[in-house]
Amino acid sequence: MAMNLSKPSSMSPLFLLLLTIFFTMTTAQKQDNLPLNFLPEFGLGKENVSHLHFFFHDIVGGPKPTAIRVAEADFTKTSPTGFGAIVMIDDPLTEGPMLSSKLLGRAQGFYASSALEELGFLMTLNYVFVEGEYKGSTLSILGRNPVMNEVREMAVVGGSGAFRFARGYALAKTHSFNDTTGDAVVEYNVEIID
Ligand SMILES: *[C@@H]1O[C@H](CO)[C@@H](O)[C@H](O)[C@H]1NC(C)=O
Ligand SMILES: *[C@@H]1O[C@H](CO)[C@@H](O)[C@H](O)[C@H]1NC(C)=O
Repeated sequence: MAMNLSKPSSMSPLFLLLLTIFFTMTTAQKQDNLPLNFLPEFGLGKENVSHLHFFFHDIVGGPKPTAIRVAEADFTKTSPTGFGAIVMIDDPLTEGPMLSSKLLGRAQGFYASSALEELGFLMTLNYVFVEGEYKGSTLSILGRNPVMNEVREMAVVGGSGAFRFARGYALAKTHSFNDTTGDAVVEYNVEIID
């Protein structure tokens, strides 16, 4: 049965019902606006911008590596970019470029060689902070890291603790690379809104 709702010929019961629903919805919408006044109590609507700066130590060689290759394909061995290798990390994050400088946190997760034609990694990790106001809080990073580029940008896709609701980005810049060991120190600048 087809009903033409746009042309009610009279005040039919159906039309009255629709009219009632319409006004109820309008009133409900007005009432829905009221709780907006309470949003600041929950910290919503106020954006908190944080800037983090630290150095990431990817130690692949020596007696105490923090980055360990856990998987590769046969193909990886002949690939010029090591395509397919997966490296599990628990890399220290320090205040300064020296490993001996103050420990701020760790980068835990893995990166995987995901580019055939250039040296590029998929980064999948959590920063866990051990110092100051962010102690115990985490940031989750997911991004593309073409390591030969001067600056690489990765997404901050979330966080916990002080960083609940976090979003933002991380900029990575290689500070130093040791050809002999393969160890790298990478400077990170991270901008977060939470
Ligand atoms: C903003 O960040 C600071 C530092 O982490 C924190 O103390 C404060 O509670 C945050 N404010 C909001 C509204 O999230
Ligand atoms: C690279 O690492 C080796 C072994 O730890 C060390 O002897 C050498 O000085 C390092 N090179 C640079 C440029 O830091």
